[in-house]
Amino acid sequence: MPRPPEIYVFDAFGTLFDVHAAVRQNAEAIGEKATWLSELWRAKQLEYTWFYAGRGTYMPFRGITRDSLLYALDALQLTHDLALPLLESYQRLEPFPEVAECLRTLKARGARLAILSNADPDMLDDLIEAAQFRDFIEYLITVAVAGTFKPAPNVYALAVEVFAMPASDMTFVSSNRWDVAGAKASGFQTVWVNRGGTPDEYLDYAADQIFKDIVPLTHSRKRV
Ligand code: LAC
Repeated sequence: MPRPPEIYVFDAFGTLFDVHAAVRQNAEAIGEKATWLSELWRAKQLEYTWFYAGRGTYMPFRGITRDSLLYALDALQLTHDLALPLLESYQRLEPFPEVAECLRTLKARGARLAILSNADPDMLDDLIEAAQFRDFIEYLITVAVAGTFKPAPNVYALAVEVFAMPASDMTFVSSNRWDVAGAKASGFQTVWVNRGGTPDEYLDYAADQIFKDIVPLTHSRKRV
């Protein structure tokens, strides 16, 4: 009997795309606070999504990304003049170095690939276009359809709906440990991409596998 295809559902930011690339591209103009700015921007961006997820409501991710950046610039006493170039860079975030080849390999062996992201549909589209990932990714799934953010259960349910497969037949891949926990709670097989070598957490929602990048996904077919 033919084996069912592998299905991988990827998070976007921090997993496939390097969120710190936007600040890196503008590092000279930002100066010595560049690393702090990048960390604070990302932390506030996520905090804002968790607020809306907790309230069961929504605001476009572009607005969240802008507001969190403006907050971070204020907090670090940096000029708002930096906002425009940084937001433009965010539209063309670089993928991590191994990602394109890994997606190509997975696709070539018949795996079905999707992205499930907090990003607005047009943001996700721009990222995929700039990275030239369109041929690899079958579905771009955005939380906008669910009207809230990760880790709301109805967000992970979108992947189940799109593939019309049970969550347990799909592998959710994220570098965000809380996102892995959300997917695990929703019944997915999970891979935590621990790019930063940070300690494990959310131990009641343990990741099924932990890798330092996505290369090991290509090594062998995990499940029969
Ligand atoms: C995303 C964030 C959580 O892409 O990284 O959804």
